[in-house]
Amino acid sequence: MKLCQTPTEFRDACDEARKKGRRVGFVPTMGALHEGHLALVREAKKHADLVCVSIFVNPTQFGPNEDFSRYPRDLKGDSDKLSGASADLVFAPEAAAMYVEGDATRVRVSRLTDVLCGPFRPGHFEGVTTVVAKLFGIVGPCTAVFGRKDYQQLAVIRRMVKDLYMPVEVIGHPIIREESGLAMSSRNAYLSADERARALSLSRGLRLAMDAFAKGERSASVLRGLVHAEVVANADSIDYVDVADPDSLDVFSPVASTDRAKDEVGDRALVAIACRIGKTRLIDNAVLGEDHWA
Ligand code: PAJ
Repeated sequence: MKLCQTPTEFRDACDEARKKGRRVGFVPTMGALHEGHLALVREAKKHADLVCVSIFVNPTQFGPNEDFSRYPRDLKGDSDKLSGASADLVFAPEAAAMYVEGDATRVRVSRLTDVLCGPFRPGHFEGVTTVVAKLFGIVGPCTAVFGRKDYQQLAVIRRMVKDLYMPVEVIGHPIIREESGLAMSSRNAYLSADERARALSLSRGLRLAMDAFAKGERSASVLRGLVHAEVVANADSIDYVDVADPDSLDVFSPVASTDRAKDEVGDRALVAIACRIGKTRLIDNAVLGEDHWA
């Protein structure tokens, strides 16, 4: 497995592969890799001949009171995991290489970033789209794989790629969960045993909504209420539990009981959660009518 540390080296490797007719696959990450990330690498393998993974803890997507400085970093461990998953190339740049002196460009996607995590993490998605646009600019034409764990991020990136005519095919991969139901996340490493047990309320809540949906429940406020009750009993604080359109991300807001039509979800509905367990911010989601897990 090749390690590239500069954008030029990385671009050259991708250009060279394409020149030989090889397809380039790309999985952007912030490291502290787990099975969720490795599943994206395996998915990329199905679509590409040269699978590249970037590891970069992107400073611009963290708020001033977020965990940028304590975010877990383990390049050696990550490299071992990636060679185990048959990745071909790792790009692990220094921050100064991604944000060169005089850096003055930001990429912002509107609307889709005004809901769910957007209001709670000002500037976050702008940091994400800016760094992903830079990475796509370095890699060039490729198939990029993102997890549906970060459902809103995936929607925002799809929008950016479409709006800016980027030569990238975006693939969304289902959430990888532990057997307990807990969605895998680099941030799970922060959880104590008690917090980990309470963190199971997120997937448990989503399961309740999935089961109710399967039995015919279509009221957004009833579905939301099932999830909220489960999470509120276990979380230390809740940013949101929302039911939204899975494509536009338009959120169903509580409506008067007389206005039932506005409360009715269609064949698919996104249920998304963001809350804190202890000091750790966790997110999870399910698309009712589409996602199933045992
Ligand atoms: P990171 O949190 O490291 O996640 C990298 C990719 O792994 C994202 O596409 C994320 O959705 C996916 N992922 C994480 N946990 C997953 C799980 N349990 N199942 C499936 N996929 C999972 O997301 C980022 O990094 C950054 O914002 C990034 C896009 C790299 C830009 O800095």
